[in-house]
Amino acid sequence: MHNNRINIQSDEKVAIIGLGYVGISLALAFAKKKSVIGFDIQANKVAMLQNHIDPNHEFDTNAFQNIDIQFSSNWMDMFGAAYYIVAVPTPVNGERIPNLAPLLQACKTIAAVMSKGCMVIFESTVYPGCTEEDCIPLIENESGLKAGIDFLYGYSPERINPGDAQHTLEQVVKVVAGCNEIAEKKIAELYSLIVKAGIHIAPNIKTAEAAKIIENTQRDLNIGLMNELSMIFDKMQLNTKAVLAAAATKWNFMPFTPGLVGGHCIGVDPYYLTYKAAKLGYNSQIITAARMINDGMGKYIADKIIQHLIVAVDIIKNAKVLVMGATFKENVADIRNAKIADVVFALKQLNICVHVTDPRADNAALQKEYGYSLITQPDKDYDVVVIAVPHKEYENLDNNYFASITLPHALIVDVKGVFINQIHSRKYWSL
Ligand SMILES: NC(=O)c1ccc[n+]([C@@H]2O[C@H](COP(=O)([O-])OP(=O)(O)OC[C@H]3O[C@@H](n4cnc5c(N)ncnc54)[C@H](O)[C@@H]3O)[C@@H](O)[C@H]2O)c1
Repeated sequence: MHNNRINIQSDEKVAIIGLGYVGISLALAFAKKKSVIGFDIQANKVAMLQNHIDPNHEFDTNAFQNIDIQFSSNWMDMFGAAYYIVAVPTPVNGERIPNLAPLLQACKTIAAVMSKGCMVIFESTVYPGCTEEDCIPLIENESGLKAGIDFLYGYSPERINPGDAQHTLEQVVKVVAGCNEIAEKKIAELYSLIVKAGIHIAPNIKTAEAAKIIENTQRDLNIGLMNELSMIFDKMQLNTKAVLAAAATKWNFMPFTPGLVGGHCIGVDPYYLTYKAAKLGYNSQIITAARMINDGMGKYIADKIIQHLIVAVDIIKNAKVLVMGATFKENVADIRNAKIADVVFALKQLNICVHVTDPRADNAALQKEYGYSLITQPDKDYDVVVIAVPHKEYENLDNNYFASITLPHALIVDVKGVFINQIHSRKYWSL
């Protein structure tokens, strides 16, 4: 524990660094209560926000009304803030090793604008120890200020769930931790302004970091188990959904389902934990196994499609596949680490014609990230249709619709099994 020489006044400015899914939510929420400066290195994103457009389509223009906020891509606009909240990405690189570059860059930016008496809070998901081992020493070195004496700091993991109107920032308990008791209290008070569900104070920063990382690791592991079961049951000619429905009648059976695990959280965070564990001399087995299973599901689905095509069509490269859904999960526009791309690439490698459609994904972003674009209108002669992401827009589709866009020998691959027992006139398969 550091000594407690700081007193932060309550009416001071909050700076949010990184205006993505997390940063925008925080900025808009705090701006109802405090003066906020939202900073991002992407000038085009900032320009959209200045025009009250959320690039992620999570908030409409009403959310920008009657609030005290300034959006900027000029870091110097953050001078004089009392709170600096970091919400930049924490991805992994090609070797699945944590890439701390955006986080460390954000630390340098804060060091350049901060002044004595301020508070730095990290929201980005990191491995236990990162805040105090990697971030704070860098801020101290760059700023010449002493943590715990000249400035306070803490960690508060984010739990927003894009596309989920129920579990919003305000409605979910917020875990907070500070470098000392004063910091802890100040951070709890700050978040109490915007979180209705309550604040949980963790005993220290490392505990709060660990809590966040295991939330997603637990989900990854459980989904990995469901995916493995799904592959086993497929060999047994059992429908996994039906098995799970029966098992779920027991009081303590947990309701996880198989699926593609993509995005920037569940499919990424476990690597932060296993990386740090390995550094400490422990090589994770269970977490790594679930990661491998989940990462392999795209190839497994592609193999199922190819097996069908080998039997159903004369020349495989003349086959035509429609993929419905290009985002990493349903009801969001986010295409980062969308695992359906593994299916698309595997089919394209065999020169199979793959059409991709999605009511929410941005065509330009998709082209940039994966090199393929969206079709506007599906054709009527597909050999396979893959319902990859069950967006709300697909809810009312039925057997007749799928029959109308496919050839009689077609296979409907319903990744999440949302049309189970509804498709009768075509071959049907789900995880
Ligand atoms: N999206 C979620 O659902 C979610 C939920 C919980 C936790 N998290 C975690 O929160 C963090 C942010 O996630 P996100 O989804 O909001 O990311 P995001 O990619 O949507 O947004 C991050 C923003 O930070 C900006 N940025 C990058 N480097 C910067 C820098 N040095 N200075 C200023 N801005 C910078 C980027 O331009 C981008 O706009 C990650 O650590 C993530 O794991 C995300």
